[in-house]
Amino acid sequence: MLTVSNTEGGLIASLPIGIASEDPEQRDAARRLAHRLGLPLLTSPLDRSTIALVLTAQRLEIRHPGLGSPLFVDFVKGAMGYRRRRGEGRQQPLARAIGLKGNICPTVLDATAGLGRDAFVLASLGCQVLLLEQSPIVGALLEDGLERARQAPESAPVVARMAFIQANAIDWMAKLSTRDLPEVVYLDPMYPERTKSALVKKEMRLLRTLVGDGENAPLLLEAALKCARQRVVVKRPRLAPTVAGLKPDFAIESKNTRFDVYLLRKRSKNP
Ligand SMILES: C[S@@+](CC[C@H](N)C(=O)[O-])C[C@H]1O[C@@H](n2cnc3c(N)ncnc32)[C@H](O)[C@@H]1O
Repeated sequence: MLTVSNTEGGLIASLPIGIASEDPEQRDAARRLAHRLGLPLLTSPLDRSTIALVLTAQRLEIRHPGLGSPLFVDFVKGAMGYRRRRGEGRQQPLARAIGLKGNICPTVLDATAGLGRDAFVLASLGCQVLLLEQSPIVGALLEDGLERARQAPESAPVVARMAFIQANAIDWMAKLSTRDLPEVVYLDPMYPERTKSALVKKEMRLLRTLVGDGENAPLLLEAALKCARQRVVVKRPRLAPTVAGLKPDFAIESKNTRFDVYLLRKRSKNP
C-alpha cells in the first residue's frame, strides 16, 4: 500500500491511501481506477488511518477527517465558477505575466498543473493550455474535474481549450520537437506554505503530502527556459527568493504572489 507522509506534522502523517466507492454503481469504475493508479480498493468504512480517493455518484474526491470537507476539482461552481462568471479579465497579474494583451493569446504549457486553477483562468481568458501533472492521484482529481466541466454548458467552451497529460514535465519538455514548442511555459512549483487561509492551508498541505515539496523547481525552470518560445513565468510567494537565484526580466506582484517573467528570443516554428 502506498503511504504518504506529511513532513510538516499535523494534518495527515504517514497514512496509506486507497480507493473507495460510495455508490454501488461506481464499484467497477473504482476497481478500474485502483488498478490504473496501483492503489488498493478500500472495503471497510473510512477512518483516520487512511486517506481515501472516493468515487461518489457525482465526482471523484479525496477524503480524510483531518481535511474537513472533501477535496475535489470544481470548475463549474465554487470559487472557480465565481471567477469565470466574474471574468476578472486581462488586467489580473497572472494574465499580464503571461503576456495577454489586446487580441494576443499565447499557447501556454502549464507544467505544474496541480488542481488546474491557474490553467482554467488562462483558458477562460482565451488561451489554449496544455496541463502537465506528475502525480497520478492529483491527475485523477484534475481529469475528473475537467470531465464534469466538459458536461456543463457554462464551462464547456473553456475546458475545450484545455488538454491534460499526466507526465513529469522535466522529461516531457526535454522531448518536445521544435515545431511543438509552446509560446509560454508557466510554472507554479510547490513552496513551503505561508498563507493564513485555512482552506488553502488544508488543500496545500494535502497536495504537499501527496506530491512533496518542490525540490525540482530549478530543474523545471532550466527545462522551461529551453522549451518556451517567448517567455517563462514562475509563480512564487511575494517575498520568496527567485528559483535557482535566477534574476527574471521583470516581475509582477500582487498581494501575496509574485510572477517572475523570463523573456526569450523568438524561435522559428520550423526545425
Ligand atoms: C502548487 S501546485 C500547482 C497549483 C496550480 N497552479 C493550480 O492553480 O492549481 C504544484 C503542482 O506541480 C506538480 N509538479 C511538481 N513538479 C512537477 C513536474 N516535474 N512535472 C509535473 N508536475 C509537477 C506537483 O505535483 C503539484 O501538483
